[in-house]
Amino acid sequence: MKSFSSLLHVIVLFYLCLKTEGQLRADYYASSCPNLSNVVRREVFKALQNEMRMGGSLLRLHFHDCFVNGCDASILLDGSDSEKLALPNLNSARGFDVIDSIKAAVENECNGTVSCADILAITARDSVLLSGGRPWTVLLGRRDGLVANQSGANNGLPSPFNSLDVIIAKFAAVGLDTTDVVTLSGGHTIGRARCTLFSNRLFNFSGGGAADPTLDSSLASELQSLCPQNGDGNVTTALDQNSTDYFDNHYFNNLINNKGVLSSDQLLFSDDAAATNSMRTLVQSYASNSNLFFSQFASSMVKMGNISPLTGVKGEVRKNCRVVNSS
Ligand code: HEM
Ligand SMILES: *[C@@H]1O[C@H](CO)[C@@H](O)[C@H](O)[C@H]1NC(C)=O
Ligand SMILES: *[C@@H]1O[C@H](CO)[C@@H](O)[C@H](O)[C@H]1NC(C)=O
Ligand SMILES: *[C@@H]1O[C@H](CO)[C@@H](O)[C@H](O)[C@H]1NC(C)=O
Ligand SMILES: *[C@@H]1O[C@H](CO)[C@@H](O)[C@H](O)[C@H]1NC(C)=O
Ligand SMILES: *[C@@H]1O[C@H](CO)[C@@H](O)[C@H](O)[C@H]1NC(C)=O
Ligand SMILES: *[C@@H]1O[C@H](CO)[C@@H](O)[C@H](O)[C@H]1NC(C)=O
Repeated sequence: MKSFSSLLHVIVLFYLCLKTEGQLRADYYASSCPNLSNVVRREVFKALQNEMRMGGSLLRLHFHDCFVNGCDASILLDGSDSEKLALPNLNSARGFDVIDSIKAAVENECNGTVSCADILAITARDSVLLSGGRPWTVLLGRRDGLVANQSGANNGLPSPFNSLDVIIAKFAAVGLDTTDVVTLSGGHTIGRARCTLFSNRLFNFSGGGAADPTLDSSLASELQSLCPQNGDGNVTTALDQNSTDYFDNHYFNNLINNKGVLSSDQLLFSDDAAATNSMRTLVQSYASNSNLFFSQFASSMVKMGNISPLTGVKGEVRKNCRVVNSS
């Protein structure tokens, strides 16, 4: 009887393990690194004190990580197949040195315990919070991938020149729906974009001789002076011209007023497809109800953070976020 009950015990434990295998959880580091969230929060605070834009840059790193081979910190790897060299990231993705500092502080707190992929997820949440947004509970337990995937980054990450249908398809490929497309695009309430990524909207748009008709004319002339033809394509402007470094719902007000900077922003409101699949209605709801935006942003970030995590024995906890341990 005693051995039967201990056998039962083993079976129950086995199924509990199977059930939690592959699942992220909020308390993953509760005993192995109890002060993790304070350490990361302090480091992100320092980075934003130095430069507010860094909040946007760090949020974007988690997004660009998750869309390529899942949230496995593949974006942080250096080397010839580095995702940093892929078109959407080259001269664009930033904050890698800040991630190195955060990782160093975390290693100092609990050496060899916390993955770089989890650091990216916590850092994204803290960047939003410290930019004025609302926090969410970050699920943890991701392990770091062993390879980067440059072609995966080139093919999988959305481009500002993509049609709305293509953007929707790229989100669908990683399990995200049209609500997630609209909501997560709200990340563009902070951060900046380079002229080269929207200047096609400013002059002779689609060969029509004028600027993009879905771009407000006064914003168009401001951007024309900032980004003259044959000028420096690396000059940047705020993605949210209203409250640049502040995480709020003004991005959606901008779209209603034809003040989206990227074509891919304005399409969420102006494209015919946005009307037929209720994306336009969602933009309007977020513009008039920031609580609705904040709560759905939290859910969509958790959903994005759940894209194909490596758990259990897959992957590793990298010592240096830029290289795999074996090398
Ligand atoms: C819907 C498809 C998306 C497209 C086409 C897109 C495209 C872009 C582009 C072209 C830039 C400017 C890059 C540069 O100037 O080099 C940018 C910046 C940014 N993106 Fe997106 N993005 C998308 C979705 C997202 C999502 C889902 C998030 C996060 C939740 C996000 C967060 C950001 C942030 C914060 C910046 C500013 C980064 C900085 O200032 O360093 N984007 N995005
Ligand atoms: C946790 O980290 C914070 C921020 O670095 C620090 O102020 C605090 O003393 C730490 N607490 C413990 C128990 O180590
Ligand atoms: C972490 O431990 C390794 C060896 O176990 C050591 O080489 C490294 O210096 C330690 N890092 C920190 C930040 O303490
Ligand atoms: C790279 O990403 C593509 C998806 O775009 C995937 O099919 C491929 O298996 C990935 N390669 C590696 C080495 O992970
Ligand atoms: C605009 O582009 C069209 C098509 O490429 C071209 O025929 C036209 O000359 C251009 N107009 C101007 C003002 O550059
Ligand atoms: C932006 O700057 C980088 C690095 O200095 C340079 O290689 C690139 O050609 C520039 N891009 C544009 C569009 O001017
Ligand atoms: C910013 O947005 C708010 C709310 O939509 C609006 O009242 C205000 O006029 C806008 N300010 C600018 C400079 O666009």
